[in-house]
Amino acid sequence: MTSQRVRALIVPVIVCAAVTLSGQGGSRPPGLQPAALRVEYLANPLAVDAEQPRLTWEFGPQNVRGARQTARRILAASRADILAAGRGDVWDSGKVASAESVNVPWGGRPLRSRERIHWKVQAWDERDRPGPWSSPAEWTMGLLEASDWSARWIRDTAPSVGDVSATYLRREFTLARPAVRAIVHVSALGLYELRINGRRVGDRQLAPEWTDYTTRVQYQAYDVTPMLRQGGNVVAATVADGWYAGGVGLAAMLVKKNRNIYGTTPSLLFELEVQHEGAPATKVVSDGSWRATRTGPVRSADILNGETYDARREMPGWDAIGFDASSWHPVEAGEPAAAGPRLVAQPNEAIRITEDLKPVRLTEPKPGVFVFDLGQNMVGWCRLAVRGKAGATVRLRHAEMLDDAGLIYTENLRGALQTDTYMLRGAAGGSFEPQFTYHGFRYVEVTGDVERPRLEDLTGRAVHSAVTPAGTFESSDALLNQLWKNIVWTQRDNMHAVPTDCPQRDERLGWMGDILVFAQTAIYNFDMAAFLKKWVVDVRDAQADDGRFPDFAPHPFGKNERFTGAPGWGDAGVVVPWRAYENYGDTQILADHFDAAVRWIEFIRRENPGLLWTKKRGNDYGDWLSGDTLVAEGWPKKGAEVPKEVFATAMFAHSTDLVARMARVLGKDAEAKKYGDLFDRIKAAFNSAYVDGEGRIKGDTQAGYALALYLDLLPEAVRPAAVRRMVAGIDAYKGHMSTGFHSTYRMMMELTRAGRTDLAYRLALERTFPSWGYSIDNGATTIWERWDGYVKGRGFQDKGMNSFNHYAIGAVGEWMYRVVLGINADPAQPGWARVVIRPRPGGGLTWAKGSYHSIRGRVDVGWRQPSADAFSLDVTIPPGVTATIYVPARDAARVSEGDGPAARAAGVTFVRMEDGAAVFEVGSGQYRFAVK
Ligand code: BGC
Repeated sequence: MTSQRVRALIVPVIVCAAVTLSGQGGSRPPGLQPAALRVEYLANPLAVDAEQPRLTWEFGPQNVRGARQTARRILAASRADILAAGRGDVWDSGKVASAESVNVPWGGRPLRSRERIHWKVQAWDERDRPGPWSSPAEWTMGLLEASDWSARWIRDTAPSVGDVSATYLRREFTLARPAVRAIVHVSALGLYELRINGRRVGDRQLAPEWTDYTTRVQYQAYDVTPMLRQGGNVVAATVADGWYAGGVGLAAMLVKKNRNIYGTTPSLLFELEVQHEGAPATKVVSDGSWRATRTGPVRSADILNGETYDARREMPGWDAIGFDASSWHPVEAGEPAAAGPRLVAQPNEAIRITEDLKPVRLTEPKPGVFVFDLGQNMVGWCRLAVRGKAGATVRLRHAEMLDDAGLIYTENLRGALQTDTYMLRGAAGGSFEPQFTYHGFRYVEVTGDVERPRLEDLTGRAVHSAVTPAGTFESSDALLNQLWKNIVWTQRDNMHAVPTDCPQRDERLGWMGDILVFAQTAIYNFDMAAFLKKWVVDVRDAQADDGRFPDFAPHPFGKNERFTGAPGWGDAGVVVPWRAYENYGDTQILADHFDAAVRWIEFIRRENPGLLWTKKRGNDYGDWLSGDTLVAEGWPKKGAEVPKEVFATAMFAHSTDLVARMARVLGKDAEAKKYGDLFDRIKAAFNSAYVDGEGRIKGDTQAGYALALYLDLLPEAVRPAAVRRMVAGIDAYKGHMSTGFHSTYRMMMELTRAGRTDLAYRLALERTFPSWGYSIDNGATTIWERWDGYVKGRGFQDKGMNSFNHYAIGAVGEWMYRVVLGINADPAQPGWARVVIRPRPGGGLTWAKGSYHSIRGRVDVGWRQPSADAFSLDVTIPPGVTATIYVPARDAARVSEGDGPAARAAGVTFVRMEDGAAVFEVGSGQYRFAVK
């Protein structure tokens, strides 16, 4: 079950409990009921390879004030019936006094490979009343040791070099007895699609997902019990090149290779274990008994270039019993699993098809050239129903934009062809859908010797890491709403196990600077806990021997040689795990990553003993795509870019600060002091080298002030002057931003911190060039890489680098959640144990509402400001969470909650007036504040 569904299911349960708790009927016992049980952030995973998995649950929204868990009991059983009987034969934690419901470590006996654990949780509430047990959940351990595998890597005898067709593999086997439970573990070097007895196994796409295949490769587990039968069975697989043997972004430029980046020969690893009642298990594994062919329909498949499928080569029944495979040849049985790259259970949510989009328009800008408009810049592929003669070819080319003639604009795709080709089998036509590639597109050009397509013939299929949505946003301002949608789509489009820069051109890499700035927005939008946990390991796999973090991860191009160690990119190796800790309370990620983070800091320090980062800055991108890169009439050519040395030193200081904080969390006192002191010394060096007595920062750029303010590099006394200069910088650009990737959202946050939320709103709602509004008014449905990706009159930016689906400047999403909705975590209590609700109305908005589904449950906020002196604020805080709520008001006495004065409301404590707001403390529950 997906976590989305788990969360959907908990709502009725909670509502039912809430009705009872508020005394309105029902027979449910009072108290808290845990729900949405997760193991290592996943719902009911089938392969967990953490030896001490961490357990998480939540309680969902509830109309009970001050509800919180004070104790809990975890029961874990080897069978569902044992658990249902209330026994924990694997682990019974007993009642443990604890408020913790996030990442509670397994405390039972050591777990074994393949073990299936059924579990449930009971919680005691703030009055020490036991609540009802959660619904049962389960997980299954993966294969913990390489020696648990008996399969061998199997492959076709010829590499995917001249002949790039997919490999089809099959094997028949007999089960003497019915299956009680059958789990298959499968992996590939390349991508696989697995079938049993004619049916596809699971709905994962593009598996195994992208990792540094020379170091580690994921395997997936599926429960295939219902697919098997007593007697004859067949397992069949298609294996395609994928990231392993196909093209990878920038490879052509960096290593002069278009493909075969990790290896030349896609391989499969398959291990099926079938359990029977009262008899030993049957094992079916990949070995020399399998047969292969390369003559099937997938003639080529490449992540960047697309797929070619010749339906005339389909092999009806090839995946079913009784197929004549005599023309197939024996596979090459390669090394045993233990001798290959390290096999890890996939720790992150699968890539799946998450949505189907119907086109909104079909045009024919040239005779025989049909262009579908999906109305949304998206990622994935299309399904096309097509009619034509046998052997007719239809070609689908994918693009983000149209040119002036209404034809697809493909120049910005650079070397990525994004083209799928389909050869028809017969007069009846057919339906085509690729599966071993993905494209970034809004428009699809269809050409070929086939019948004229109709609008309804095409479906866009959105394909990406299927992380659970976490945030919502809506307001009275349509532009802001569209901006939020664009940010969310851009994130969806750039999650394929790796947070990528873009999904369309020949790049699609896990560029570190981009996710550094976008991480918090990403976390607001979706549950990124498992995704980031996975990717942080990719970052470590790519760390250079001298401590440099890469510029992108995975890094297949020689981690010691190139594209590593750039300021603001390598630093994501510190910032991103820290964000994961802040939001998910994940101390394990810090513990696993701490040494790597220290090595990064020590690399910079070793090379720069003066503590200004002047040397060894690798590719040194600086505050990428600052205002100086914009090409538009009347736009200044100089004056926007923060000097690279200033930027780099700011990043060095920030990473050092975070390493000191990590050490504090981990109880490493000596390191905490050491890096705390180092942070102070870098700040001192920064100030003496780059900041003058009047608070002027070298370069005098908007970006420089935003960075120094945001990263707390300036002495308190200097901050007001820096703010004044930052604002003057905005004036100098006639009320526009001239900031780059790293400074844009930070400037928005700093304007608010400095009391200039009015100006931040103006920037957010600006429609003249350059602004988010300008892109939206020009049709953007995703965030553009460059403010001037397209400019009216001038046209497209340089085709060499012009993506329309790049999330970096979409990091303004963080400001929208934090400031417009006012949903903030208290950094002093990681994992959203305490929240700060502080909406700051402005920009002429009359209302805004939204939510963030934190790891402890959903926080809801909705405010209305119908007139200047009326304000209302609805807030829901989940059980176990406390909140500080800022209600904009001149006088606390004018604030009501529910039917009476707020200060006297049950569970509400007035604390102080601050900065034009009455501040209250509350526990869980629903609150309705109003100001008259
Ligand atoms: C990518 C960026 C990336 C940058 C490094 C570009 O080609 O698309 O988003 O961070 O290179 O400066």
